[in-house]
Amino acid sequence: MKRCLIVGAGGFGREALAWALAMRQDEWQIAGFLDAAPHALEGKNVHFPILGDPFKWIPGPDEVFIAGIGNPEPRLRVCGALAARGAKFVTVIHPTAVVAMNAELGSGCVVAPMAIVSVNVRLGPFVLVNVASSVGHDATVDEGATISGHCDIMGYAKIGRAAFLGGQACVLPSVTVGESAIVGAGSSVVRNVSPRTTVMGVPAQLLFRHAE
Ligand SMILES: CC(C)(COP(=O)(O)OP(=O)(O)OC[C@H]1O[C@@H](n2cnc3c(N)ncnc32)[C@H](O)[C@@H]1OP(=O)(O)O)[C@@H](O)C(=O)NCCC(=O)NCCS
Repeated sequence: MKRCLIVGAGGFGREALAWALAMRQDEWQIAGFLDAAPHALEGKNVHFPILGDPFKWIPGPDEVFIAGIGNPEPRLRVCGALAARGAKFVTVIHPTAVVAMNAELGSGCVVAPMAIVSVNVRLGPFVLVNVASSVGHDATVDEGATISGHCDIMGYAKIGRAAFLGGQACVLPSVTVGESAIVGAGSSVVRNVSPRTTVMGVPAQLLFRHAE
């Protein structure tokens, strides 16, 4: 059995631990976390150690990893650096999530409790679909995007690389959210969103463009 290390011991890393422990599988066993902050778990009542700093860790052949960072940019940067050194990332799917038989998931995804990944969906590597969100038929979610809890991504929608959808956002059918865009919590995205912009509201409107 392989040792499994969760990359990130913050809020989402601890959630990823809980969802991973609920999985019925015998390929790997949680050994602990990697986090640059050695005291990140203090007072959190989590009985797994922080084993080291992800930027210094040399992945071993008996190790697999879980992407436990909630925000897209640091998730891609930290997990990408480990992957470049040979780390193998596993995908966590909570037993109460529903993943359709022909959905395609890249490595290092996390699909949280009660989430739904529907037919012909493609999730790139390191995608997070958080609690009770649904990704509708034929939608695509590119590498490193975060779909926060209770979102509704409708059919044929496209979510770009490293985009971030706040909680309870919905994206209408066939609408595109550009790379690294941010959608505010509770927003309803009815038109395409440009890359590297923040939008919010119902319907979602441009709040600002990100600095280059
Ligand atoms: C949209 C968002 C990214 C903007 O954050 P920000 O750049 O820090 O902007 P501010 O919080 O200063 O808000 C700017 C304005 O937009 C308003 N606003 C912020 N978020 C909003 C939202 N989701 N819907 C409607 N209005 C919102 C604020 O009230 C404020 O209005 P004002 O200028 O009249 O006071 C942020 O509010 C948000 O929704 N984040 C998502 C959080 C989330 O869901 N996390 C996942 C769970 S961990």
